[in-house]
Amino acid sequence: MKMPVALVWLLAFTNLLSLIRGETNNAVCKETFKLDPRPHSVSILEFGAVGDGKSLNTLAFQNAIFYLKSFADKGGAQLYVPPGKWLTGSINLTSHLTLFLEKGATILASPDPSHWDVVSPLPSYGRGVELPGKRYRSLINGDNLQDVVITGDNGTFDGQGAAWWESLESGSLNYSRPHIIEFVSSKHILISNLTFLNAPAVNIHPVYCSHVHVRKVLIETSVETPYVLGVVPDSSDNVCIEDSTINVGHDAVSLKSGWDQYGISYGRPTTAVHIRNLSLKSPTGAGISFGSEMSGGISDVTVELLTIRSSLVGVAFRTSRGRGGYIRNITISDVDLSGVGTAIVADGHAGSHADDKYDPDALPVVANIVMRNFTGEDVGLAGNFTGIGESPFTSICLADIHLQTSSEAWVCSNVSGSSDDVSPEPCAELTSSSSSCVAGGVIYGGDTAGQWYYSW
Ligand SMILES: *[C@@H]1O[C@H](CO)[C@@H](O)[C@H](O)[C@H]1NC(C)=O
Ligand SMILES: *[C@@H]1O[C@H](CO)[C@@H](O)[C@H](O)[C@H]1NC(C)=O
Ligand SMILES: *[C@@H]1O[C@H](CO)[C@@H](O)[C@H](O)[C@H]1NC(C)=O
Ligand SMILES: *[C@@H]1O[C@H](CO)[C@@H](O)[C@H](O)[C@H]1NC(C)=O
Ligand SMILES: *[C@@H]1O[C@H](CO)[C@@H](O)[C@H](O)[C@H]1NC(C)=O
Ligand SMILES: *[C@@H]1O[C@H](CO)[C@@H](O)[C@H](O)[C@H]1NC(C)=O
Ligand SMILES: *[C@@H]1O[C@H](CO)[C@@H](O)[C@H](O)[C@H]1NC(C)=O
Ligand SMILES: *[C@@H]1O[C@H](CO)[C@@H](O)[C@H](O)[C@H]1NC(C)=O
Ligand SMILES: *[C@@H]1O[C@H](CO)[C@@H](O)[C@H](O)[C@H]1NC(C)=O
Repeated sequence: MKMPVALVWLLAFTNLLSLIRGETNNAVCKETFKLDPRPHSVSILEFGAVGDGKSLNTLAFQNAIFYLKSFADKGGAQLYVPPGKWLTGSINLTSHLTLFLEKGATILASPDPSHWDVVSPLPSYGRGVELPGKRYRSLINGDNLQDVVITGDNGTFDGQGAAWWESLESGSLNYSRPHIIEFVSSKHILISNLTFLNAPAVNIHPVYCSHVHVRKVLIETSVETPYVLGVVPDSSDNVCIEDSTINVGHDAVSLKSGWDQYGISYGRPTTAVHIRNLSLKSPTGAGISFGSEMSGGISDVTVELLTIRSSLVGVAFRTSRGRGGYIRNITISDVDLSGVGTAIVADGHAGSHADDKYDPDALPVVANIVMRNFTGEDVGLAGNFTGIGESPFTSICLADIHLQTSSEAWVCSNVSGSSDDVSPEPCAELTSSSSSCVAGGVIYGGDTAGQWYYSW
């Protein structure tokens, strides 16, 4: 099923043509894939795990995964988690593994920080995100892996984040908070048919990864806390996120690529991302955001079919001086907004710096962004575009956008672009000729995440 390179390029070209014709590009998510069962399967019960919600099962998981490593060259193996509440600290996965959570199975994250390893910061961030220095490892970790499936019959990961949110608020946190799932430098990852609750910080964080597919997940928190993000593709490529519902306090989906001078020198962009059919809610953040950490660049992203409700912001582009990098070649279409404070934000003065060694002359570029077919009711402000004087946002193209707004409509500075069939009437900066729309051409290879699942 893997496509020859020539065909990939042909598809890329076809996508360009269809974009100019006004159709959507949907390469990365398009492929349907079937999962062959792994030839070997063991249950976590065979390793002494106890699903009473109280016994700590970290060792059982690590022993099971260590055992399953030996099947890596025999088609891989499945670790089956039956119904029950399985308390655990941080665990490491292995390649060619399927972690399957049965209906009624909940993996409960231990709220005790001593059950979590502490690791070095990511090189593209140079430090922990909320505290300088080290960070906690995530609940489920994949480091340099390939061919990993985390799935189930709607089993649950419960991050039990309340204790972490409290420590953050009270200033007693010793290291930056952990995530539920993090893959680092891994490829061919599928995460599907699962529920995620109460993450300490991010729910799903692929960083330096290729070919990551997230589908049919429900991500929620039990209370509205401003500290939780949904899915955060970070310096990763060929990522698909689809058919999911994400209700979290902060950004539901956020594309990132490193922080200031650390992200610039690591230099790994987030690119070839396809996001479709999501229902999003973020009372203190955005339904979907780009940045503010974007120093490795973010490009070639197609987003379509979003429902965004009860959110502070619908779509956000965030950056600032010192970031360097770029956000370009982004197409977002078919977005339905309701109860949103500001439908579109592009902010060139957002976010803090990793430290005071950033280069203020490292100016980010925000260009070639197409937003088409947005409808909205109960919207506060239609758009707030605040570019950077020395590096204005350019080629922002708005088409077929109809928002029912309550207050002043558009706020614009240091931005230019075009509009076609937009109400309320956009600011003058966004009403040049409509030719720049085509410049938002989103092209990426057709070597999709899905196509790789042939071997399961
Ligand atoms: C998990 O992986 C990390 C990095 O690869 C390693 O430092 C750590 O010791 C591993 N933990 C366990 C319990 O295997
Ligand atoms: C998955 O389980 C959650 C509750 O844990 C439920 O709200 C959701 O509707 C379920 N999703 C599916 C597809 O069954
Ligand atoms: C932070 O570290 C101190 C000293 O080791 C410890 O007493 C405290 O419980 C830790 N706090 C958290 C939230 O882990
Ligand atoms: C997820 O569930 C759907 C049915 O809702 C099923 O068709 C699909 O095969 C499942 N995917 C995986 C990876 O189990
Ligand atoms: C969107 O995703 C939902 C699951 O969240 C699914 O039921 C629905 O069929 C999908 N719609 C499209 C158009 O793909
Ligand atoms: C506009 O987006 C809506 C979803 O918000 C979709 O149902 C509709 O088909 C789209 N219209 C066009 C012309 O693509
Ligand atoms: C627009 O965004 C800028 C930059 O974040 C902010 O200072 C300003 O208050 C916003 N304007 C409105 C009307 O929301
Ligand atoms: C553009 O940015 C410059 C520098 O940040 C600022 O002085 C200027 O007022 C901005 N332009 C507008 C129209 O706000
Ligand atoms: C954006 O797309 C244009 C073609 O439309 C291409 O020339 C350019 O290299 C792309 N930029 C990035 C950063 O991908």
